[in-house]
Order: sequence, then C-alpha cells, then structure tokens
Amino acid sequence: MTANHDLTGKTIVVTGATSGIGRAAVRELAGRGAWVLGVGRSPERCREARDAILAEHPDARLAFAVADLSSQRQVRKLACEIRERVLAEGGGKIDVLINNAGVVPGWYTATEDGYEMQFAVNHLAPFLLTYELMPLLQAAPEARVVTVSSSSHRGARIRWGDIMHRRYYHCLLAYKQSKLANVLFSAELNRRLGPASRVRAYAADPGLVNTEIGQKHTSGFIEWFWRQRRRRGATPEQGAKTIVFLASDPSVRGSDAVYWKDCRPLPPSRYAQREDVAARLWSLSERLCGISWAG
Ligand SMILES: NC(=O)c1ccc[n+]([C@@H]2O[C@H](COP(=O)([O-])OP(=O)(O)OC[C@H]3O[C@@H](n4cnc5c(N)ncnc54)[C@H](OP(=O)(O)O)[C@@H]3O)[C@@H](O)[C@H]2O)c1
Repeated sequence: MTANHDLTGKTIVVTGATSGIGRAAVRELAGRGAWVLGVGRSPERCREARDAILAEHPDARLAFAVADLSSQRQVRKLACEIRERVLAEGGGKIDVLINNAGVVPGWYTATEDGYEMQFAVNHLAPFLLTYELMPLLQAAPEARVVTVSSSSHRGARIRWGDIMHRRYYHCLLAYKQSKLANVLFSAELNRRLGPASRVRAYAADPGLVNTEIGQKHTSGFIEWFWRQRRRRGATPEQGAKTIVFLASDPSVRGSDAVYWKDCRPLPPSRYAQREDVAARLWSLSERLCGISWAG
C-alpha cells in the first residue's frame, strides 16, 4: 500500500509525457500538487495531453516543452528552456527528473547525430539531459533521477563491438541493450555522486503495460506481436505507480537499491550490477555526447 503524498512545492520534469506511462505519471504528480513540466516531441500531442490533464485537475500547475530527444542539439536546447522555466516558475530547482521517453522502432534508424535511434532516445538522451540539469537537481534539498527501464534488460549484454547495432539490427535486441543501459547509468550515477549526495538515481521497471509503444514505427510481425501482447498489460496508471512512488515516497531515501518494480527494490540482472561495465558505458556515453561529468 503506497501513500498519496502531497507534492505541493515540488518541481518535476517528465519526458515522454504525451502518452502511455509518462502521461499517466504526469496526471498523478500534477494532481498531487507538484509543478510538472512534461516533455513531448509533438506540439499537438503536448497541447492535447495538457488540456486533458487540466480538464481533470483544473488547478494543476502544468507546463509542456517540445523536443525531439533523438537529437542532442534539441536535448541541449530543451535543457536551456527547462532551466529558464524552472528559474521563473519552478522555484529554481528540480526535485525529480523522470527519464521516461522511449521507442522501439522496428527497423534500423539513424538519428541526426548518426546514432542508432533506441540507443540515442532511450539511453543517451537521459544521460545528456541529466548532465545538463544536474545543477538544478543539486539545488534541491533532496533530488531524484528516475529512469524508466524494463525487465527486458535481463539477459542483455552491451554489444561493445557494435553498440549501434549497425551490422545486425533486431529491434528487441537494441531495446534490451538500451534498457540495460538505463540500469547501468542509474547505478553508476549514484557511485559517481557518492553516498553523501543529495541527488539519487533509480531505475523503475513498470512491468508489462498496455500502451502503443510497440506499434509506433513498427510493422509486420513486431506490430502484430505487440498488439497481442499489450492486451495482457496493466493500465498506464498502474504502470506509472512505481515511477510515482520513486518520485514521491520518503521511504525510498532509506534504501540503497537502484532497481525497483511494484514499488519494491528488486535485484537487476548480474550483468547490470557489474561496475566495470557501467564505468565503460559511462565513458563511452560521455564521448558520444561530447561531455565530461568530471568538469
Ligand atoms: N509499455 C510497456 O510494457 C513497458 C514496459 C517496460 C518499460 N517501458 C518503458 O516505459 C517508457 C514509456 O513507454 P510507454 O509504454 O508509455 O510508451 P509510449 O506510450 O509510446 O510513450 C513513449 C513516450 O515517449 C515519447 N517519445 C518517443 N520518442 C521520442 C523522441 N524522439 N523525443 C521525445 N519524446 C519521444 C512519446 O511521444 P509520442 O506520444 O509523440 O509518441 C511518448 O510520449 C519507455 O521508456 C519504455 O521503454 C514500457
């Protein structure tokens, strides 16, 4: 049983806020009084999501920003916009960043930076956005970075010789690698910040959720497979529960656990716990984003 904590005074940024799990999380968090800044890739879908949530919660403090997270240029521009809006309306700090946006395109797609789409949107965008927003997270009395992973990370390895899956692309293999990267990133961020840091990172596993994710940019067997599979999934509201819990529940702070499912800590795969793998992925991600966290 989880409590519905009042979030008045909290500032929360949520990517992938226009559909599925992210949209359900925004509705819940804004309904509890947080100032929520949702991010979507389409202005129309942002407007539609905002209007629908405001129709349910007319007093909600809710804003949307538009960015295609497959583009590092747009991630950086988004961070500037978030900074300006948080300084003007959000109390000058971010209490929670929820890296939720995700894709599973059925065919190999290169981003404008020349990277594989899933690796770019599902892993590099959270990595870069978290880096850009870290000063605002550190300005909060106690901040959380929640990155939405999946049980799909189990059985996956980082394919060091072909991390962009250029030689052989299968959407589920690329997806599993990107969700593994979410866990490795969260664990390594905590190690780098250190135990005394006011910022902590978590990877949330929402379980199987009935959303359209596997029917966007897919066709044939993958589209059919997801159409069947999603019927067994939970509602987006149920899927958002662990994310909302990690964003809001004070008890989370007392745990060192990184990976959470059903509002409880759960060990991720053994490979996801390997510090050497996490450190290597971190260095590579820095290089691919052209940044250095150390300074
Ligand atoms: N559904 C599941 O069973 C399940 C299970 C485990 C983990 N997850 C994870 O949960 C997260 C949310 O997925 P979901 O199932 O809720 O899927 P969804 O309904 O398709 O939502 C994905 C969100 O990400 C946005 N997005 C996609 N590409 C983007 C880009 N290039 N730039 C900016 N935003 C982008 C989408 O925008 P549009 O609205 O414009 O499409 C949408 O708001 C993902 O990280 C996924 O890996 C899902």
